[in-house]
Amino acid sequence: MDLELNRKDLHDTRIVNGEPPTLADGEALLRIESFGLTANNITYAVFGDAMNYWAFFPASDPGWGRLNVWGYARVEESRHSGLSEGMRVYGYLPCASHLVVEPARINEKGFSDAAPHRANLPSAYQGYRNIETDPVYSAGREDEHILFFPLFFTSFLIDDFLADENFFGADTVVISSASSKTAIIAAYLLAKRDGIKVVGLTSAGNRAFVEGLDVYDSVCLYDAIPELPGERAVYVDISGDGAVRSDVHAHFGDRLAHSSTVGATHWTQMAPGAGELAGPSPVFFFAPDRITKRGNDWGAAELDRKVAESWAPFAEWAAGWLRVDRISTEDEIQKAYLELLDGKVDPAAGTVVNLS
Ligand SMILES: NC(=O)c1ccc[n+]([C@@H]2O[C@H](COP(=O)([O-])OP(=O)(O)OC[C@H]3O[C@@H](n4cnc5c(N)ncnc54)[C@H](OP(=O)(O)O)[C@@H]3O)[C@@H](O)[C@H]2O)c1
Repeated sequence: MDLELNRKDLHDTRIVNGEPPTLADGEALLRIESFGLTANNITYAVFGDAMNYWAFFPASDPGWGRLNVWGYARVEESRHSGLSEGMRVYGYLPCASHLVVEPARINEKGFSDAAPHRANLPSAYQGYRNIETDPVYSAGREDEHILFFPLFFTSFLIDDFLADENFFGADTVVISSASSKTAIIAAYLLAKRDGIKVVGLTSAGNRAFVEGLDVYDSVCLYDAIPELPGERAVYVDISGDGAVRSDVHAHFGDRLAHSSTVGATHWTQMAPGAGELAGPSPVFFFAPDRITKRGNDWGAAELDRKVAESWAPFAEWAAGWLRVDRISTEDEIQKAYLELLDGKVDPAAGTVVNLS
C-alpha cells in the first residue's frame, strides 16, 4: 500500500497497491508499522519540489509524490549480512506499507539508508534508530514519540538557538500557530528560561486550547497583532502566513530583534503581505543545519543525551493532554490527510496510523 499525491494538486490522492517489493543483494525490506500525521507532514508535501522532499521516496511515476512521515518499522527481510531481520526502528518513512533500503553504517544504534537517490539529502532524515538502544524510546510513550519527537527535536534546537544568541537582546518571543505541536513544544521549553516572555499567536477557535496549556505567558489573536506586548521581540513563525508576518514586523519595526521562519501551517496564505517588510529580514530555520552545528560543537552523543534528557518530562506532560486518534484503513488515511491539508484539525489531538 502506498498513498501517492499529485504533485500539482495536493488534494488529488491515490492508493497504489501491489506485491511487496523483492530485494537485491545488500538491500533490506522495512515493514512500516505505525506513523503520525500532523501539519508537519503536509509541509513536506507543500515544499516537496522547493526542498526536495519528494526525492526521499520516489513515487511510481514522476508526476506523483509520496507523503513523508515519521514512525516505526520492522526489518522484515534482509539481504544484507550485517543487518538482522526483526530489528524495530524509528525513522523517516513514506506513507506506505513497505520501504526498501540499502543499509549502511550499521551499528548498535541502527543504520542509515545509503540508497543513491537519497545520497545528497540532509543526513538528519537518513537514519533508522534501533528502538532497543534509543534513549528517547519508551514502550509506554510510543504515540508521543511518533507524533511529537521530530517536532520536539526542532523546538529543542529553536530554544537552544535563541538562548545561544541571548535572545538577540529581546524580552519577548512571539510564536505563531501557537496551537501547533511545534509551537507548543517551543513554548514549553522557553517557559523554563529566565527573563523572557513567550506570547502565542493563534486563531480565535484555538485560543481556549492554547491558554489552557499554560505554557505561554499570554495569548494574542491574529487580528489583534497591534496589541502584542513586549519592548523588543523575536518572531518565531510557524504559520508561514504572509499577512501575519507583515503585521508582526510592522508592529515591532526596529524593535524586532530577529525573525525566524520555521513552518508553514497556513500554507495557502504564504504570499507576502502588501508593501515592504519592516524590521529585519526573516531567516529560515532549518533543523538539520542546527543538528549538524550542535553535533560538531557537542558531539553526536552529547546532543543525543541532552535531547533525551529534555524529552522525557515533555512526553509525560504532553501525554496528559494529547488525545490520540487511531486509524488504519486506506480510506481513513486519505480522509485524515485531506482534513490535515485543509486545516480541519483539533490541536488537542494527534492522528496515529497503525498498519500492522
Ligand atoms: N523548519 C523546520 O526544520 C521544521 C521542523 C519541524 C516542523 N516544522 C514546521 O512547523 C509547522 C507545525 O507543524 P506541526 O506538525 O507542529 O503542526 P500541527 O500541530 O499539526 O498544527 C496544527 C495547527 O496549525 C494551524 N493550521 C494547520 N493547518 C492549517 C490550515 N490549513 N490553515 C490554517 N491553519 C492551520 C492551526 O494553528 P493556529 O490556529 O494556531 O494557527 C492548527 O491548530 C509545520 O509547517 C512544520 O513543517 C518545521
